[in-house]
Amino acid sequence: MTTAPKPFASGTAQRFLTGITTSGTPHLGNYVGSIRPSVAASKGAGAESFYFLADYHALIKCDEPERIQRSTLEIAASWLACGLDPERVVFYRQSDIPEIPELTWLLTCVTGKGVLNRAHAYKASVDKNEAAGHDPDADVTAGLFMYPVLMGADILMFKAHQVPVGRDQIQHIEMARDMAQRFNHLYGDHLVLPEALIEESVATLPGLDGRKMSKSYDNTIPLFSSRDQLKKLIAGIVTDSRAPGEAKDTEGSALFQIYQAFATEAETAAMRKAYADGIAWGDAKAMLLNRIDQDIAPMREHYESLINNPAKIEAILQAGGEKARALSAPFMRELRHAVGLRKLAAPAAPVKQKSAKAATAGFKQYRESDGQFYFKLVGSDGKLLLQSLGFAAPRDAAQAIASLQQQGEAALAALADRLAPQEGVGPDEISAALKQLRHAAD
Ligand code: TRP
Repeated sequence: MTTAPKPFASGTAQRFLTGITTSGTPHLGNYVGSIRPSVAASKGAGAESFYFLADYHALIKCDEPERIQRSTLEIAASWLACGLDPERVVFYRQSDIPEIPELTWLLTCVTGKGVLNRAHAYKASVDKNEAAGHDPDADVTAGLFMYPVLMGADILMFKAHQVPVGRDQIQHIEMARDMAQRFNHLYGDHLVLPEALIEESVATLPGLDGRKMSKSYDNTIPLFSSRDQLKKLIAGIVTDSRAPGEAKDTEGSALFQIYQAFATEAETAAMRKAYADGIAWGDAKAMLLNRIDQDIAPMREHYESLINNPAKIEAILQAGGEKARALSAPFMRELRHAVGLRKLAAPAAPVKQKSAKAATAGFKQYRESDGQFYFKLVGSDGKLLLQSLGFAAPRDAAQAIASLQQQGEAALAALADRLAPQEGVGPDEISAALKQLRHAAD
């Protein structure tokens, strides 16, 4: 048994949540861009991480049952083989949580249709149809149209603060925020407003043809190919026609970029020198094969054993589903009550003051146009109490907030050089707000 901190008891830690659509086989791009950083982050102290298999979302783009099932198995096995510890995080399957579609409906009823009209994925389909002279909604399912609402339910159900996603998903997180805001405005303060967490440092990996590695370009290298398959695929990476002995450009070289995503700095420097010294492409490919395999081989065995034991993965997902439902079931009861889906014998609660929401102090994290990440603490009366300076990474800002939330005043001194002084704000006002926040979380 691991001595995993009993998560989710306290409301103070920053909660991270992300979903993986189960419609494909994980490739090296998924590993470098999502699995590896997420698994690393889940090992950090103080974070509560929720990872789930978004199989309801998969139905929107895939109508092959066998593929959905196979992909769910492969993705679950991949994350576990890459070191995700299901004891430390909540790892579950979306469709095991019946409260998610239930919340989807409540959110559907507070989401403007016009807002969904503007969602990128839906709009792209409409634009394509219009360009082709078809009906704008030709072949567009209501599932595609509703995609952002289902995603909002995923996030809001578990009160996630931070949602690590790729840039293409930012709009969905903003929509989830808007849904939460609207819901809270109508029914009282129930939902947590989430933020997108964009990891700038994470590489997008080029694929075999040099474009971004993506299933839709058919240029991927499966994460758990055998060494032989890996070798064949790497042989197909596009290079230029420079002969052995001729110096080669690292700039724009897919081979070099993939190598770099796996190598240490020293190894990358050595490869850069090898390029300058005219390494033969065949030799560079052999080095890439060895470097990738060095990382993947130890996990491959674990992956194979998991894939061949679906019952074990199923049991892990069931256990994760139970942890998740311990939160979602009571929360859904609260939300049903809030909107008026109540037992008739239950006394009608006095209507919650809509303005009650403004009565607690709170942190707000945001990004400025300078690309940096900031936070502020606003008092219960709406007064600005603390204003941070810019942080390079959203995680650093989140960590500062978490330390203020957890340690209150005691964390102020350590953060002194990260905070801009506010005129006319007394230290007692700040400490009162921090205290209030800690009590609110108890
Ligand atoms: N839409 C996300 C993607 O394609 C997957 C997803 C579904 C998700 N639900 C989510 C991501 C909730 C973050 C949070 O990448």
